[in-house]
Amino acid sequence: MIHLAVLGSGRGSNFEAIQKAIIAGELEAKVSVVISDKQDAPILEKAQSYGIPAIAVPRDNFDTRQAHEKEIVALLQNYTIDYIVLAGYMRILTSYFIRQFPNRILNIHPSLLPAFKGLHAQKQALEYGVKVSGATVHLVNEEVDGGRILGQKCVPVYDSDTEESLSQRILAVEHQLFPEVLQKISEGSLKIPMEVKA
Ligand code: GRF
Repeated sequence: MIHLAVLGSGRGSNFEAIQKAIIAGELEAKVSVVISDKQDAPILEKAQSYGIPAIAVPRDNFDTRQAHEKEIVALLQNYTIDYIVLAGYMRILTSYFIRQFPNRILNIHPSLLPAFKGLHAQKQALEYGVKVSGATVHLVNEEVDGGRILGQKCVPVYDSDTEESLSQRILAVEHQLFPEVLQKISEGSLKIPMEVKA
């Protein structure tokens, strides 16, 4: 059993997929807390509906990125946490935060990394004309979308696709991929080296 903190900025569909996998007994994990940088993010309401502590830490309340992250780190210390799951967290973490949790932060990205890092990955894929895209779960390091890949799932890209239709197809596999990778970590079939905190 692994304990998770989920950080998200928006609708929280990946969080919900993880929570549903836990409830279905497919993922041996517990979400200890959900934190958002947006006061009114739907992910917070979703967490509350599952009885999970949900906390807003609005970015605008802090002078610097590091002050904002320090508040989140302080909050996380109140919970049992093995991994931090970024599920649509739309801020780039500073090295300060990343070094607090070396090899303990996972992100999901809507492309087959290392292709199409950064924002609007689905649009980038369409513009490039790739015929296959997908989703990637990876460790977070100091290079944006650059950490070690833990799992991927692919989807076809059709000539008729729009950014919206491709995003929906990728999102459907994201919802399978994140719980699957987390379960592999939980059962020990996917080993992540423990790094010493910097
Ligand atoms: C997903 O497309 C994910 O790949 C990206 O942000 C989106 C989050 O969606 N990092 P949701 O909030 O989990 O619904």
